[in-house]
Amino acid sequence: MTATPPFSTRSSGDMIADRRYAYGDAALAEQDWQAAFDLFEQTLELVPHWPPAHLALARAALALGEEETARAALERVLTLDPADHLGAAMLLAQIGSKPVAEAMPAAYVAALFDDYAPRFDSHLVNQLAYRAPELLVAALDRHQPERHFAHVLDLGCGTGLMARALGSRAGLVFGVDLSPRMVAVAAETRLYAGLQAGELVAFLTQQPVAGADLTIAADVFCYVPDLAPAFAEARRCLAPSGILAFTVQTHPGEGVVVGEDCRIHHAPGLVRHLAVEAGFTLLAEEEAVSRLDAGKPVPGALFLLAAP
Ligand SMILES: C[S@@+](CC[C@H](N)C(=O)[O-])C[C@H]1O[C@@H](n2cnc3c(N)ncnc32)[C@H](O)[C@@H]1O
Repeated sequence: MTATPPFSTRSSGDMIADRRYAYGDAALAEQDWQAAFDLFEQTLELVPHWPPAHLALARAALALGEEETARAALERVLTLDPADHLGAAMLLAQIGSKPVAEAMPAAYVAALFDDYAPRFDSHLVNQLAYRAPELLVAALDRHQPERHFAHVLDLGCGTGLMARALGSRAGLVFGVDLSPRMVAVAAETRLYAGLQAGELVAFLTQQPVAGADLTIAADVFCYVPDLAPAFAEARRCLAPSGILAFTVQTHPGEGVVVGEDCRIHHAPGLVRHLAVEAGFTLLAEEEAVSRLDAGKPVPGALFLLAAP
């Protein structure tokens, strides 16, 4: 897996096609779906093998209610780029044409956050009022007062905001993230005893049994459809009475869905069920708004699970 797609996302290599594509993009931004659709079709006449134009055509088709056309365009993206750096599977899952379990391929998440890394902190914290790390630390303060966590695993560590929020409550913090560029920013903080670019379940499988006393994931499980493997591995790595702390985005229905915001929403009941299945005790479950989306609070919850 690489975060860099095997094609340029900026240019198709054909100047005229690029111009059509840029006009299509502008039409999408103005919500002129039909004009956008026509422009992406014209783009594809010139560059039929360029995945971004197929994905953009799918977006316009979805907005026009042309689900069949969108589905075909998204399948074409997956044929051209099986690793799926653009997130075609996520859009297919959103319209029920792929299992939610396949909605977040590693290449897509890595590419998304590689792109986001340079402006992540300022955008998320200043504009989206992001506070998942602070909410998790406040919950630890309430439910585990005075406890010092000597060995912490920060799953989906991003730029390091979680390690910063933990401050002196944490000893050695080890981070993992799918996005190499997020990891590079985290490294600059010098708050981590170790950092790895990789997938969180794979990272957990490398950890010794019962070596950690806190495993934490702030705003990460909205990119992880199936929490069972992460819970099972986290439980294996936690020492007795160790804590798994995390936030999720929630929805009022059952199971797991891909929301309109292109993130995974977990039903709290399912999270509870999986936690118990993995052998955890529920220490805390609280409603938690980690950030805003289009100025509105994003429904979510935080959980503290205790290993026996
Ligand atoms: C919204 S950011 C949160 C970052 C950080 N936890 C924080 O609170 O600032 C989500 C991060 O999770 C990472 N991520 C998502 N799915 C992952 C996975 N399966 N394995 C490792 N990292 C993942 C993304 O690359 C991204 O950096």
